[in-house]
Amino acid sequence: MGAGLVGRTVAQEVARRDYADVVIVDIVENLPQGIALDINEAGPVLGYEANVTGSNGYEETAGSDVVVITAGVPRKPGMSRDDLVTTNEKIVGSVTEQAVAQSLEATLIVVSNPLDAMCHVAKNVAGFPKQRVFGQAGILDTARFRTFIAWETGASGKDVQALVLGGHGDQMVSVVSAATIGGVPLTSLVGRDRIDELVERTAKGGGEVVELLGTSAWYAPGAATAQMVHAVMLDEKRVLPCTAYLEGEYGIDGLYMGVPVKLGAGGIEEIVELELTDDEQTMLNESADAVREVVGVLTT
Ligand code: APR
Repeated sequence: MGAGLVGRTVAQEVARRDYADVVIVDIVENLPQGIALDINEAGPVLGYEANVTGSNGYEETAGSDVVVITAGVPRKPGMSRDDLVTTNEKIVGSVTEQAVAQSLEATLIVVSNPLDAMCHVAKNVAGFPKQRVFGQAGILDTARFRTFIAWETGASGKDVQALVLGGHGDQMVSVVSAATIGGVPLTSLVGRDRIDELVERTAKGGGEVVELLGTSAWYAPGAATAQMVHAVMLDEKRVLPCTAYLEGEYGIDGLYMGVPVKLGAGGIEEIVELELTDDEQTMLNESADAVREVVGVLTT
């Protein structure tokens, strides 16, 4: 849902893996059709045969296994994700309603911002079990943290393990105690002051791209979302940070927040409870308060 910068990136990433057909829906006439045509025409070069369709309606999406919601407006310089809440609540609500009417068994992956609040909208409108409605934020935030750690240490980002939890806002929590490079703790390689700078850059990572481009990022968000689609479609049982509906886990109840989960064909098959330091738990609680404030503005 959404043929914009993020939606089209997810569509191509999924098409490239060649295990599923993709339908791109957008309200703008000709846009999804044009993007779909272009992605199809890249297939012979990149070596995929997925059938990509573009539409301004929902009929073509009937019986979808996974629905990715990227419809909505992105932020502009000077805006926070929370500034988008009223506009995107309407868009995400309407798109979810029409999408789930065609695909009652689908798993919903929400990407539109403010992410945590938009997950509440999608869940309330769809009426699906919590295992089948969740959001993309943690893989992206963690990828940013991993990139900065890789640059700092000179190691490959592929060998950096890290975890960013909490709401998808400036109060996200980089779990420094869980960050390792090839199994070696980050704290034994980099000084605390410098780690604090990497954590700060991670929390403001989305804004850094917005300031440079005038709109929000798409390559890393698209790649992160496609990783979640693969985990569900291919029943991979990946353990990845996703925005999940918490009912007591991490001491948080009735709220969508980023936590590590096991992702497979059943959607969120398990919420993984990690031992946090007291400071990290305090920061997670503060992040939850910030998410609750935005959720409180919703009318859905
Ligand atoms: N139905 C379908 N599509 C819609 C609707 C709607 N009701 N309203 C808006 N759209 C489409 C727009 O026409 C546009 O093509 O959503 C698309 C959004 O694309 P972009 O403006 O390029 O935004 P993008 O960068 O893709 O970000 C989308 O993801 O990461 C978040 O913060 C970001 O909320 C934003 C969302």
